Amino acid sequence: MPLNKITILPGDGIGPEVIAQGLKVLEAIRLKYSHQWQVNEALIGATAIDQTGDPFPEASLHACQQADAILLGAIGDPKYDNNPSATVRPEQGLLRMRKSLGLFANIRPVKIYESLLHLSVFKPETLKDVDFVIYRELTGGIYFGDKIKEETWSSDLCLYHRYEIERIAHLAFKQAMSRKKKVTLVDKANVLETSRLWRSVVQELARQYPEVSVDYMFIDNAAMQVILYPARFDVVLCDNLFGDILSDEASVLSGSLGMLPSSSKGEMSSLYEPIHGSYPQAAGKDIANPMATILSVEMMLRDFGFVKEAEDIISAVDRCIEEGYLTEDLRPKIARKCSEVGARIVSIINK
Ligand code: IPM
Ligand code: MG
Repeated sequence: MPLNKITILPGDGIGPEVIAQGLKVLEAIRLKYSHQWQVNEALIGATAIDQTGDPFPEASLHACQQADAILLGAIGDPKYDNNPSATVRPEQGLLRMRKSLGLFANIRPVKIYESLLHLSVFKPETLKDVDFVIYRELTGGIYFGDKIKEETWSSDLCLYHRYEIERIAHLAFKQAMSRKKKVTLVDKANVLETSRLWRSVVQELARQYPEVSVDYMFIDNAAMQVILYPARFDVVLCDNLFGDILSDEASVLSGSLGMLPSSSKGEMSSLYEPIHGSYPQAAGKDIANPMATILSVEMMLRDFGFVKEAEDIISAVDRCIEEGYLTEDLRPKIARKCSEVGARIVSIINK
């Protein structure tokens, strides 16, 4: 699929700041390789509520539907987090966007940078050879099941259809074929009916991928194994809720949540975003780590076949890390601003 139109959703908190750095890098690559792609911007999250009353207005949906790729910053605002009775919330915009664009697979690679090893709370031996990717189902499960709110009780339904499991499981198996050929399904099949469905569907599909070894792990055990033996994982397949939790946990391995990019795939379009949130305490201070957004741009270019362009970004990020040219979350000797890190990466790309 060609890359012509890119829609940018800066969102809330540090979203616009990290997106600005991602765009600087995208523009540097566009000029260097004379690409023609067009970029437009749309609203999402609390910013969209403030301006239109809707966290994902019709105009934003339309812009995303027209786009080949979408780049998202972050959404979320504390004024909604502590108000359980708010009926309009920024997160609804994100969920509605995922659902209406059919973005059913969220892909979160967990990679360790050699030069950041010393920052990790983990022992270097634990982090040796850590390289895995989480395939999180994104448009089903408890996030989207019927919700009931009564005076004295509430309920969230967790519902999965076979086809919802099959389509993401195929992607996970295919990914494993080009990696270490291992898939780990993380579930709670000792308790949950939906997890037992996941197991039986994955067992069936596994026959089509005889070279891939499959293992099954309960989420509580997986939460422990990811910390104790992270190098044992290759492709980790999860439902929506377990994938959400496990991916934040896994990000700790890399030294900062600010380092991890993600992509979300569907039938119609793909979306790229850092896995971190809107970090409202840092908003407007130019201190957030832009690497996860810049690496999301890298994932986007690679997916569309721009391998040289993606390699340029990866080597610039590596170089920046080696130079210690980093934002304060990575505790460098001298902390650089978000915009300075973006500018440094652009200048390395232009060399
Ligand atoms: C994520 C976030 C979202 C989620 C929130 C903001 C609704 O935590 O993308 O991981 O739970 O999916
Ligand atoms: Mg999350």
